[in-house]
Amino acid sequence: MKGIILAGGSGSRLYPITQAISKHLIPIYDKPMIYYPLSVLMLADIREILIISTPQHINFYKMILGDGSKVGLKIIYKIQSEPRGLPDAFIVGEKFIADEKVALILADNVFFGQGFTPVLSEASSLKEGAVIFGYYVKNPEEFGVVEFDKNGKVISLEEKPINPKSNYAIPGLYFCDEDVVDNAKSLEPSPRGEIEITDLLKEYLKKEKLRVQLLGRGFAWLDTGTYDGLLEASNFVGTIQKRQGLYIACIEEIAYNKGYITRQDLQKIADTISNTDYGKYLKKISDE
Ligand code: TTP
Repeated sequence: MKGIILAGGSGSRLYPITQAISKHLIPIYDKPMIYYPLSVLMLADIREILIISTPQHINFYKMILGDGSKVGLKIIYKIQSEPRGLPDAFIVGEKFIADEKVALILADNVFFGQGFTPVLSEASSLKEGAVIFGYYVKNPEEFGVVEFDKNGKVISLEEKPINPKSNYAIPGLYFCDEDVVDNAKSLEPSPRGEIEITDLLKEYLKKEKLRVQLLGRGFAWLDTGTYDGLLEASNFVGTIQKRQGLYIACIEEIAYNKGYITRQDLQKIADTISNTDYGKYLKKISDE
């Protein structure tokens, strides 16, 4: 399976921060935001990754992540010239996807919780159709909302409904089969002028090929697209890291644990940043 990180958009809700910088480069506590979605794809065992961003910002991502080889990945980049909607990622990424299954993650989504890795493994082993997630929130009207019956079968999907049929929002992480490019191309823009991910998912729903996996109440899904969201996510990551001494979304640690890089590789990276807490953490991991 391949992976796409969608890191374009306008970030208008974060004005004036986003006048000159891309939202997904803003730190969440101690790392650039994009580390968090990247770590999710890595935990799902996805090593071939496409990062999509704007013409103004794409080079900054290249500067940070390069070709991915430092953490055992193969990362390539593509420009989305304007924010045409989330499913546009599959159109921009058509050549990259090349008839394989693909996971799309929005670059401003942070996930954290025990048992997430098996959930990701299960989703990434999908044979056909699509897998999405459902997460209970108090403000479902601000998200795509999924309604399902008592057996977990999806009944409806709605984008930012005024009267939501459930409290389950759909986080920005979608696992799709090879049909996704054709499905994305068949979409018409909504009244707000974008193609909508819920319309894409409805194509799978119509064919009874959409599965929803619920993320439980002990799980954190944080949206970092607003000032409060940014602050809350930073505080959350800082609190857990300081309490446990274990990092969230440390891509070098994940690469090492997965065997993508050797102990020597990890030590080398740690040595270049040994004056930082991040470097000291990598050193500690490589010494254990
Ligand atoms: P949004 O939160 O819908 O939009 P945005 O980031 O442009 O922010 P704002 O609402 O403040 O203007 O997008 C969710 C994520 O998807 C975000 O990380 C940006 C990204 N995105 C794209 O890369 N391309 C797109 O066409 C769209 C719609 C979003």
